[in-house]
Amino acid sequence: MTRTQKVRPLLEIRNLQIAYGTKGTFQRQEPTPAVWDVSFTLAEGETLALVGESGSGKTTIARAIAGLMVPRQGQILFEDQDITLPIEQRSRKLHRQIQYIFQNPDSSLNPRRKITYNLGRPLEFFFGLSGGEKKRRMEQLLHSVHLDTNYMYRFPSQLSGGEVQRVAIAQALAAEPKLMLCDEVISALDVSVQANILDLLRELQAERGIAYLFIAHDLAVVRWLAHRVIVLYQGRIMEAGTPEEIFSPPYHPYTEMLLQSVPEPDPSRSFLKATESVSDYIDVEPEMGCPFTPRCPHRIESVCDQEMPAWQEISPAHSVWCHVPVTELAQKQAVS
Ligand SMILES: Nc1ncnc2c1ncn2[C@@H]1O[C@H](COP(=O)(O)OP(=O)(O)OP(=O)(O)O)[C@@H](O)[C@H]1O
Ligand code: SF4
Ligand SMILES: [Mg+2]
Repeated sequence: MTRTQKVRPLLEIRNLQIAYGTKGTFQRQEPTPAVWDVSFTLAEGETLALVGESGSGKTTIARAIAGLMVPRQGQILFEDQDITLPIEQRSRKLHRQIQYIFQNPDSSLNPRRKITYNLGRPLEFFFGLSGGEKKRRMEQLLHSVHLDTNYMYRFPSQLSGGEVQRVAIAQALAAEPKLMLCDEVISALDVSVQANILDLLRELQAERGIAYLFIAHDLAVVRWLAHRVIVLYQGRIMEAGTPEEIFSPPYHPYTEMLLQSVPEPDPSRSFLKATESVSDYIDVEPEMGCPFTPRCPHRIESVCDQEMPAWQEISPAHSVWCHVPVTELAQKQAVS
């Protein structure tokens, strides 16, 4: 598949709004949603990156797709079927087809059990494998992620961070998924190991046609992996486009800030000054205007914080959500 080729969506997200704490609380007011009016599609064999600072709603979107949260509004379609259902109401087949690799590799694996148990479980559960057949399949899976078959007899604590992540990927592959939700799968790893895991993900996609929703803080990381990128800020999509489009002006003012920032070693502080936190900036009424107003160097006074921007299409795959016309953004960004 070429990087921009359009095919039938495997996954379609329509106007998703997700809030925490809507059930089982005695709050009088509905909690503020963590995700607002998010729509996108993902094709078979495609990699879509979701990028944004801590708290922008990346994991919340992935959790809703996996059925771990039920949206307050909107729809999730998988192969044209409405799957806006909690995980317990989803079929085993659907459960198998959408696999989630978590931010912390340790949380995918049971630390008290050897890799045989961790890899064997999905093979038993989804395919009813046992004995020699199960062992052969586990060997193939370890081979696919470039680990020796004797890793089967080790505990997760006996593996390096990169090896644990490879086993977590093998565990997800055991289900033979069509979609993998890769939530910060390389953030906890050394930079040298990160590149190897990205290479592995690309190789597996080329072999098996798996689609990835690839979640990351760092725009640079997604540049070589993603076919398309979505930039999120406070639960809203600010810009969507191919990596080539996202990395060259005109871009959304928030993308401009992300590109100018040097990520800090601690991801939770990325893009913020040492004295700041994301919550310092939540002072635009969420349904009033652009949430980026307080930080935006291009903001239009009395407009940006009071009126919702409209989507401006720069190309069929590239759009920004901003009040400033893209021609003006291009001029401002050419001189900055
Ligand atoms: N269990 C929860 N209960 C209440 N609010 C939550 C919960 N989990 C996340 N949130 C809130 O939802 C918003 C989005 O969080 P989310 O974890 O989706 O962000 P994220 O982009 O994945 O961040 P990170 O990069 O730190 O993983 C944040 O404001 C966060 O505080
Ligand atoms: S709408 Fe206004 S505040 Fe928001 S990004 Fe555009 S210029 Fe900045
Ligand atoms: Mg997250």
